[in-house]
Amino acid sequence: MEEDYKIPTHVGIILDGNGRWAKKRNLPRSAGHKEGFENLKSLSKYVFERGVKYLSVFAFSTENFKRSEEEVSFLMNLFVKGFKGIIKGCNENNIKVVFSGRKEPLKDEVYEAMNELADSTKNNTGGVLNICLNYGGQAEIVDATKKIVKDVLEGKIDVDELNEKDMYHYMYQDLPPMDLMIRTSGEVRISNFMLYEMAYAEMYFPETYFPDFNQEEFDIALDVFNKRDRRFGGIKNK
Ligand code: IPE
Ligand code: IPE
Ligand code: MG
Repeated sequence: MEEDYKIPTHVGIILDGNGRWAKKRNLPRSAGHKEGFENLKSLSKYVFERGVKYLSVFAFSTENFKRSEEEVSFLMNLFVKGFKGIIKGCNENNIKVVFSGRKEPLKDEVYEAMNELADSTKNNTGGVLNICLNYGGQAEIVDATKKIVKDVLEGKIDVDELNEKDMYHYMYQDLPPMDLMIRTSGEVRISNFMLYEMAYAEMYFPETYFPDFNQEEFDIALDVFNKRDRRFGGIKNK
């Protein structure tokens, strides 16, 4: 591999296309979600092996509660069982899991499973898996604003001193800016994913449905990222 091959520090993935993956196989949408979760386990392990330090995955949006009760409850059960099931693997691979999103209206058992996973992996240092669940990018900015107003009113910060960097501390998790954003399934939109963190992310929209987005596909995403010329508003690199 070339010496100057760049590995993004923070990768975001919008895990999309589970339903269409299942439909193509004449299976219920739930089968796609199950397969998507299985894929997330192996893919995230690989992403950290490639040297990525932070992986944010969009697993369930605040808007996804609009789906049928059957689908929402299947997903919530999958999360509860799935989170318990990955504790051991995350610890073996030294992965710390954190969550981004609102608590309400998650059921207690879901919230408890999230806390258990986060708590059991909190001392791991090999990479951070940020699971966005009941997450909305606009909601995150609103919630950050509320925290800032409180800190200002309590005299903890001077509002005139607040800058773009400080805003990251007020997000659900204090993560670095996103470098590469991947959305699977061919949809070319953000759907309220990490709006603030994504300001200068390179974006990649493969056609592959998430359950099929494997290691080879991720390597292609890294190659695409390496061909991009990131300028951050400056001048073109030679
Ligand atoms: C992504 O797959 C998973 C969630 C949003 C929970 P979808 O369920 O959106 O799959 P499609 O887009 O219908 O194929
Ligand atoms: C975005 O996917 C949210 C997640 C992947 C969790 P959706 O499938 O919900 O997005 P839209 O409805 O196509 O924009
Ligand atoms: Mg979708």
